[in-house]
Amino acid sequence: MCGIVGYLGKRQAAPVLIDGLYQLEYRGYDSVGIAVSDGKKLKIIKKIGRVKEIETARDEIGRVGIGHTRWATHGDVTVENAHPHTCRNITLVHNGIVENAAKLKSECEKRGERFASDTDSEVIAHLIAAEYQGDLLDAVIRACNQIVGSYAIAVLCEDEPARLVCARMRSPLIVGRAKDGLVVASDIPAVAEEGAVLYSLKDGEFAVLEGEKIVICNASRAEVRKEPMEFDLEEGRVDLGPYRHFMRKEIDQIPIVLRQSREEIERNFCFSDFCKVLCQTEYIQIVACGTAYHSGLCFQAALERVCRIPAEVFIASEYRYMDPIVRRGTLLIAISQSGETADTLAAVRLAKRKGAHVAAIVNVKYSSLARLADTVLFTQAGREVAVAATKSFNAQLMVVYSIVAAMASIRGKKSPSLRGIEGKALRAIAAGEGVRSWVPYFAGAKSSYFIGRGEDMCAALEGSLKLKEISYLPSEGYAAGELKHGTLALIEPYTPVVAVLMRRDIAEKTMNAVHEAYSRGASVFLVTCFEEYCGRKEITASVLLPKCPPVFSPILSVIPLQLLAYYTSVARGNNPDKPRNLAKSVTVE
Ligand code: F6R
Repeated sequence: MCGIVGYLGKRQAAPVLIDGLYQLEYRGYDSVGIAVSDGKKLKIIKKIGRVKEIETARDEIGRVGIGHTRWATHGDVTVENAHPHTCRNITLVHNGIVENAAKLKSECEKRGERFASDTDSEVIAHLIAAEYQGDLLDAVIRACNQIVGSYAIAVLCEDEPARLVCARMRSPLIVGRAKDGLVVASDIPAVAEEGAVLYSLKDGEFAVLEGEKIVICNASRAEVRKEPMEFDLEEGRVDLGPYRHFMRKEIDQIPIVLRQSREEIERNFCFSDFCKVLCQTEYIQIVACGTAYHSGLCFQAALERVCRIPAEVFIASEYRYMDPIVRRGTLLIAISQSGETADTLAAVRLAKRKGAHVAAIVNVKYSSLARLADTVLFTQAGREVAVAATKSFNAQLMVVYSIVAAMASIRGKKSPSLRGIEGKALRAIAAGEGVRSWVPYFAGAKSSYFIGRGEDMCAALEGSLKLKEISYLPSEGYAAGELKHGTLALIEPYTPVVAVLMRRDIAEKTMNAVHEAYSRGASVFLVTCFEEYCGRKEITASVLLPKCPPVFSPILSVIPLQLLAYYTSVARGNNPDKPRNLAKSVTVE
């Protein structure tokens, strides 16, 4: 999961590459590098760390170049493993995974070739160099034929210094014409500017950038004509404004995002298509990863409770290894912010092969998932920069709950309403600021627990994931009733426990679990819409939320939990926008 960028044109390449790489840091930020050619010599600058580490390379001279920001998969975080990688006259950057790298590498080694890194990417450079007979495109096509796995590559050849060749297989790649030059990148924001014309490559396509011309072709070198992508320059342009971190800004955007998602649903005829497909379906499977998986759990809970429609939710990375049963009439719904999550895409491809209809709920318009799915609904979360998903989760819930409400009315069932949810989200953010007083209990804790029942458990799981990923504190999300079956043994004096309590019918049951934790010395914090529970002796502190239909309540109850994670992360001196070891777009399995 890395970001790649390339430029060839009239400007100096280095600043274009560095500015582009900043926009791709969400894809990984372990190490960074660029290669710049002045037509005679190619210079490579690589560093461990974030893009700012190569700021001094802005002055490098050369109008052709490629760049890379890395999230380590094969090989440690070292300068040697950072991209670009070189073999003889070939230099490249790669995003993806070469699954047969070990085999290909040993074949190269048998020919006497030496490797400078532990990466699978360097193998591609060796393959291309071995295939090179005077035409870079030919060599790239022949090398790609040998690769099993995923790749988006941008390749330079010292013998053809005015050419940049790219290829795509299961990793996103766009090419285009920007101001005074040609560009290639993993994502639009890296190269978007006024007047740019961008094209998205499909799997198995290649592009040659040369002079002022871009030629896109397939593996037989047959030219492929494409429509330019539509993109919103404003959306791509993100700034912090008065905020310290994007995560905090993105939490504040939740009410707007909910409104935009609702408006999109109201005007988009795809929404009624989606509901029609759902109506004709006998068997629903939902696949997603991480936070999006928690949206899937919320979706399942609401579909079953409101519409009495059964659904099964799968962690996408498990789906294909469970030999899933895809019956006639199966609808597979994939949920994803990025639309590039490799595990989710693999599950979708498998379900399609087995004959399922695939519907996607996705945030990124030109993503691989949006392209693969038979029916697509877009969430309107805008660009999410912080690695930890916040507003995209709430937007996903807005979409899935709207589907549930529509399905209920189609089936003649009564559904609770989402009316006024944007205003309530605004109030939830204001009330959620109260978690700042909880932070001292969490920031120094050895571990923490998030509990709830039913929908409250879904919110608890998400709250726990958020806390662990950005504060690095061990945390578990748990069904409140399950605590006494093992996890209670971990509760010690002052262990922080967060209980979510938005369903009156099971409130006392959740309070039983709260009492069990409290009587073992836990400090219990409550997120609820019922004032009467806030004053209970077991409760150290609480956040009181606006009332909301319980079945849709995670859309609100998660907000104080997102804020708790954010403030705890900051208190521990972390950068909540860029948690260690993680990346925004997980394009590897
Ligand atoms: C957690 C988080 C991840 C993503 C997961 C799926 O805050 O962001 O768990 O939810 O990697 O990503 P998408 O939604 O892009 O498929």
